[in-house]
Amino acid sequence: MHLIFDNNKTILDVLKEKPEKKFKLISGNYSNHKFNNLLIKGDNLNVMKFLLEDFNLKHKIDLVYIDIPFATNNVFRAGVSRTSTISSSRNDPIAYNDKLKGKDFLEFIRERLIILREFMSDCSSIYLHIDYKIGHYIKIIMDDVFGFDKFRNDITRIKCNPKNFKRNAYGNVKDLILFYTKTNNYVWNEPKIKMDGENIIKLFNKIDDKRRRYTTNPLHAPGETLNGKSGKKWRNLEPPKGRHWRYAPEVLDELDKKGLLEWSDNGVPRKIIYADDYGMKRLQDIWEFKDPQNPIYPTEKNLALLELIIKTSSNENQIVMDAFCGSGGTLYSAAKLNRNWIGIDKSDVAIDITKKRFSTSENTLYFNQYFEYCYLEETEY
Ligand SMILES: C[S@@+](CC[C@H](N)C(=O)[O-])C[C@H]1O[C@@H](n2cnc3c(N)ncnc32)[C@H](O)[C@@H]1O
Repeated sequence: MHLIFDNNKTILDVLKEKPEKKFKLISGNYSNHKFNNLLIKGDNLNVMKFLLEDFNLKHKIDLVYIDIPFATNNVFRAGVSRTSTISSSRNDPIAYNDKLKGKDFLEFIRERLIILREFMSDCSSIYLHIDYKIGHYIKIIMDDVFGFDKFRNDITRIKCNPKNFKRNAYGNVKDLILFYTKTNNYVWNEPKIKMDGENIIKLFNKIDDKRRRYTTNPLHAPGETLNGKSGKKWRNLEPPKGRHWRYAPEVLDELDKKGLLEWSDNGVPRKIIYADDYGMKRLQDIWEFKDPQNPIYPTEKNLALLELIIKTSSNENQIVMDAFCGSGGTLYSAAKLNRNWIGIDKSDVAIDITKKRFSTSENTLYFNQYFEYCYLEETEY
């Protein structure tokens, strides 16, 4: 399956084009194109082609996070955010223009995703941050570039408090993060969150004779499996019509032996789950990470959100890349978590803020190899 819209380039065309600009090392050292961390100012398509050619980075990046322009037709100035109510002044410097729209916008993103995929190692993941208006189009492009079967989640991110909208529509408090992996064998450090007391009482609403809080789950799941053992009778009990046992008969026997089945008066078993075994719960696909009220960059993202993604989908010493790095939150979080990083942005304002993040005195606390970086700029041929 391939996505075709007016004048889009073939994947081969995108890959074979050469970088149009040269790059100059401004600060830091790298020898033989070996480096720890890189910050590069320039158009990310050129920069990425240059990195692929000169830095031998094909299949070397383990995690990509990108928070792309959202085709909002806005100009973002330093000092104003997409969500805050503080307005910018025309005197504030432009952070970036978000003026591309329609098929030009989609092709702009598609080309960059095609190149990004070249960087990605076999165990890598990509997270793309986008809003509800354009996100569904980007999903289709990502399915095309990475494969429908490599789509893992569309995470709903609660980004702000409810607002008083004037228009007749539901208030928008969310954006989306589309999560894909390069292969089926990817880094996954299970993220768990602690359940609060109220949640425990709500979810585990029964108490057994030893005063342990528990809940029960059905032992069957939808769908008939005609071949497997789980579609057959267990202890003379048929799974309900159109359903099958969640476990093989020997596992059901084992659960019963361990006292982990609760039998209803009419002989229907359910699995017992104790609260004290589940003090931590699995993170689901709705996340609440509100962005800073007073952002240092108009579209600055929440650092805890970035840390969660980095911890879950990369390991120490691996390389994290953000090709639309803005104020550098991804890079900074990666550095704090002992990951190497590459950041690209074409905005002077973004690059200045990113540099400041790495140079302020509180950050000397973390000062280590992950906080040192080479800085390069795009120049004309
Ligand atoms: C939504 S912002 C990213 C904000 C960032 N996540 C943060 O927390 O600050 C998108 C960024 O992409 C950059 N950008 C847009 N087009 C670009 C391009 N072709 N090459 C490099 N950077 C680009 C903009 O300058 C802007 O900083």
